[in-house]
Amino acid sequence: MLWEAVTMALNIRPMTSADKTAIMHILRATPEFKPAEVVVAEELLDWHLQDPVGSGYHVLVAEAGGSVSGYVCYGPTPLTEGTWDVYWIAVSREGRGRGVGSALSGAAEGKIREASGRLVIVETSSKPEYENTRRFYVSKGYEEAGRIGDFYAPGDDLVIFKKQLSCSIAPAAGEAGCCCLNEPQSTCAQ
Ligand SMILES: CC(C)(COP(=O)(O)OP(=O)(O)OC[C@H]1O[C@@H](n2cnc3c(N)ncnc32)[C@H](O)[C@@H]1OP(=O)(O)O)[C@@H](O)C(=O)NCCC(=O)NCCS
Repeated sequence: MLWEAVTMALNIRPMTSADKTAIMHILRATPEFKPAEVVVAEELLDWHLQDPVGSGYHVLVAEAGGSVSGYVCYGPTPLTEGTWDVYWIAVSREGRGRGVGSALSGAAEGKIREASGRLVIVETSSKPEYENTRRFYVSKGYEEAGRIGDFYAPGDDLVIFKKQLSCSIAPAAGEAGCCCLNEPQSTCAQ
């Protein structure tokens, strides 16, 4: 596949049931993911397909050259005001390092802003295999917000990243900083 050409034609769109096979292929071919994690990722996809609105799991895919090269699953964090979780993001091994993950996370953040989200949380592992993943989040403006040692397993910490979503418009004189929460959509940055 001519990746230089297809990356330029990248299309980020909502997942349909026809995309599931391709996403499962990506998940199973991702060495960072254990089989049990792939099972959980599949459950989230199925809940999304069964009830795209009510499930609380939103899924976007990146399509290039007619094939799915990555996906992101995200949703509002229950019992919070404007906090959202990115539950899963994965790009096919051959598609990595070409901006697909950036396009997916940027599109998810745009959708979260549209839904008046203000804070995005991502959880990952401290293991060396996730070094590139942690660098990816930092490059996208996420900062480490906390760690729980030995969370996943002895020697495998939970690393929590956060990103505050901001609006581009300046606050009015005398007002606190602009936040998308509860603002009319027209005032929020995309
Ligand atoms: C993490 C992941 C989604 C990134 O997707 P990607 O398409 O490769 O990322 P991009 O090409 O958009 O790169 C974005 C940034 O991340 C950095 N990055 C990406 N891959 C990198 C690598 N292998 N090493 C170092 N930095 C890397 C780039 O420097 C880039 O920075 P920039 O925006 O300043 O140029 C992808 O590598 C992946 O699927 N990893 C395995 C699954 C995973 O760990 N998922 C997250 C846990 S659920």
